[in-house]
Amino acid sequence: MNKQDWSATTYAQNARFVADLGVPVLDLLQPKKGEQILDLGCGDGALTEKLADMGANVIGVDGSADMVAAARARGLDARVMDGQNLGFDREFDAVFSNAALHWMPDASAVVAGVAKALKPGGRFVGEMGGQGNVAAIVTAFRAALHARGHNPDHGFGWFFPTAEAYAALLAAHGFTVRQATLIPRPTYLPTGLKGWLATFAGPFLAGLPEGEQQDVLAEVEWLLSRPLRTAAGDWIADYVRLRFAATRDP
Ligand code: BEZ
Repeated sequence: MNKQDWSATTYAQNARFVADLGVPVLDLLQPKKGEQILDLGCGDGALTEKLADMGANVIGVDGSADMVAAARARGLDARVMDGQNLGFDREFDAVFSNAALHWMPDASAVVAGVAKALKPGGRFVGEMGGQGNVAAIVTAFRAALHARGHNPDHGFGWFFPTAEAYAALLAAHGFTVRQATLIPRPTYLPTGLKGWLATFAGPFLAGLPEGEQQDVLAEVEWLLSRPLRTAAGDWIADYVRLRFAATRDP
């Protein structure tokens, strides 16, 4: 996939809802005071901070230096690290992840690293985009790119598995899966489709001439104005979450 450039400032403006909507995953984790917890793909640390406030000793890791700097500015222990190449060994009671795993296409490497990072009996609890996530947005990009003679899959690198496929992956790495569920979650975009695209759609446009980027964005917005914009003018994206909870076999 083309590299996604993260700006903590843009993210905070357009995507604060991502952490806000991640609170149910914290409830599923049920962190206990004093537990060692890894927040995998911690972003700017909004949920990492909640874990710390709940009494956990939490380390956040993220591939983006800008995000890690924002997390550190909250006073958190955050480190730049590729989730596909984690460097921990039996250190954590739990690994938590919200809205990050779909950015890591080598899912097998991720799960192997999590299994190694956990103490035996440790929990892996998370939520990510699942099969069909933002399908209308992806389809609009495919159409707009194809119409201009580009590979329709240019820039698409998200990993949106089915619940069954992800459960099988977890089991193959020595986890007992307690829950793996797809949850359709139509999601209000507070800064509209434009804000969402400015934050997340970079890979689809990478390498295209500037003028063509604007044309693609305009066509994507036009195509989506029917399925995703309400009569009142609000934008609702077709998110589908994959929520899971698993325990590392001793
Ligand atoms: C998600 O959280 O599902 C997501 C966010 C941005 C781009 C794609 C998916």
